[in-house]
Amino acid sequence: MKIYIGCDHAAIDMKNEISEYLREKSYTVEDLGINTGEKIDYPISAERVARKVVSDKNSLGILICGTGIGMSIASNKVKGIRAAAVSEVYSAKMTRIHNNANIICFGARVIGIETAKMIVDAFLEAEFEDGGRHAARVELISKLEENF
Ligand code: RB5
Repeated sequence: MKIYIGCDHAAIDMKNEISEYLREKSYTVEDLGINTGEKIDYPISAERVARKVVSDKNSLGILICGTGIGMSIASNKVKGIRAAAVSEVYSAKMTRIHNNANIICFGARVIGIETAKMIVDAFLEAEFEDGGRHAARVELISKLEENF
């Protein structure tokens, strides 16, 4: 599974630390920026990661900004994205299991790096509970997209 990761200028250090952490765990990570000295508006970074995740079925995304909220709002505008902004481990796990979330977002100004690592672990290690009531609900989300 490939991991696409992106951030804005509020979260460069956390993005780098999480990328390194995941590579050490043997995940394939594609860092879509930004890097030290750069600035970017979060919707632009969110779109970059979201489009990669949609086009690569065997992938998940991580988006980090100041709060995680802007990244989730923006990436959820891309068809096929189910992004969740979280600040703790339980929600990170459950949004894979129940919502089949394909992007996790969090805030570098909200949580510390150790919590961020635990969130990422919980998100990546959980699996969608396919084939039952959760699949039907996720299908309803897809139908919402068709009605725009
Ligand atoms: C940037 O200052 C900040 O607004 C952004 O990182 C994010 O928190 C938006 O949701």
